[in-house]
Formats: sequence, C-alpha cells, structure tokens
Amino acid sequence: MTDKKIIIAIDGFSSCGKSTFAKSIAARLGYVFIDTGAMYRAVTLYSAEHGAIRSGVVDDEAVAALLDQMSIAFRFNPERGASDIYVNGELVEGRIRSIEVSNCVSAVSSIARVREELVAMQQQMGRSKGVVMDGRDIGTVVFPDAELKIFMTADAEVRARRRYDELTAKGDSVSFEEVYQNVIRRDHADMTRAISPLRQADDAIVLDNSHMTVEEQMAWFMDKFAAATA
Ligand code: DC
Repeated sequence: MTDKKIIIAIDGFSSCGKSTFAKSIAARLGYVFIDTGAMYRAVTLYSAEHGAIRSGVVDDEAVAALLDQMSIAFRFNPERGASDIYVNGELVEGRIRSIEVSNCVSAVSSIARVREELVAMQQQMGRSKGVVMDGRDIGTVVFPDAELKIFMTADAEVRARRRYDELTAKGDSVSFEEVYQNVIRRDHADMTRAISPLRQADDAIVLDNSHMTVEEQMAWFMDKFAAATA
C-alpha cells in the first residue's frame, strides 16, 4: 500500500451507513475519521442547552451568537475505535444522537454562519491529509479538490429497513411506515436546502450499497483507493 496520504470525501443520503463505512476505511488505512454530522449535532445540543432553541424552535441569530463561545474538539477513543466529540472540554458524544437533537439539526445546519464556521474547522482538520471525512458537502464545498470522492446511496426502502431494525433492536416502538416517511423527508430537506444542499460532486464515484455486504464495500473501496493513489 502506498504511503501517499490523501483526503477521502464521503457524502450521501442519511442512513446509508456512511459513518460505519468511513470509520472502517480510516481504521484500515490508519487515517483520521471525521464525522462532520457530529459537529452539526454538537452545535444543536449546545444551542438547546443555552436557550437558542426553545420548544423545538430554532432562533438562528441566537445560535450564531453562541458560536464564539463554543470550542469543538475530537479525541480518539480506543474503545470505540473512533473519536468522541467534546464541546468546551465536555464529552457530548452520548447526547448528540437524541431524538430532540435529530429533530432540530436540519434547521441548525441550514444557518449560514454555522456552516461557515464548521466548514472552516473541517478544512483546518484536513490540512495534513490522511483523513476520511463524512458528511453532505465534503466533496462539493469543504474539499472540492479531494483526491477521492465517494457518493453513497441505497434504496430508501432498504435504508428505512436498516434504521427500523436498529431502532426496534434498541426497544423503540416505531412503525416501519413512520421510519420510511422520515427517511424520505430527510432526503428532501438535505437536497433542497438553500446553502450547500446534498449533491453528488461531478467527479464523485457512486457507491450504491443496497445489496452489498460490508466486506464487498471494503473490497470495492480498496480498488478505488489504489487507483486514486497510484
Ligand atoms: O450525518 P448525520 O445524520 O449525523 O448529520 C446530522 C445533520 O447534519 C443532518 O441533518 C445533515 C447535517 N449535515 C450537514 O448539513 N452537512 C454535513 N457536512 C454533515 C451533516
């Protein structure tokens, strides 16, 4: 395997298994994995805890005003094999995936000031290369020159089934229809957002993993990686 370090941008729809895929690639290559969705979620959590989101209503100005007093950092957690996210030194990894945060994160991620700030941080984190970054706008906005761009997708029904199995395994009582409708709604919100909507970069390679095992996805990736670093 080559020593040349590159930037790997992974974008795509929600519930495609992007983070799992990005995490295993990073482990395989000895790269740093950066989950940019976690950064948008951390801003959302902090905003909710500091009065900028009340009863699910996001006050854009108030969120923007809080950015200056937030310091976001990742620290590698060997037990998880991935980095945990901290805000002002406090570990928030466990709390950013709550339903309250999930319900408001789309609104927070469409605030221009939030995107400017987080994109600048992400560019800084990738400056030494050797990173796998997953999100919605990595190949289009954050690293338009990334050496390898992957756009992940899977049938909406397959994604809803995976999400439904995950939630019911945790004991949540949801209907498949509810989960399916949520997947469709989120796809629509991600693609129609005014700033940095989810879109495939012209030079991205599509990975449709509807009917692929994790091993098949890794074999597919290693092929593309070899070509990108040749
Ligand atoms: O990947 P995720 O579901 O944890 O992302 C959470 C939210 O953040 C999702 O609504 C899309 C948004 N997001 C974004 O706008 N840009 C990114 N680079 C990553 C996530």
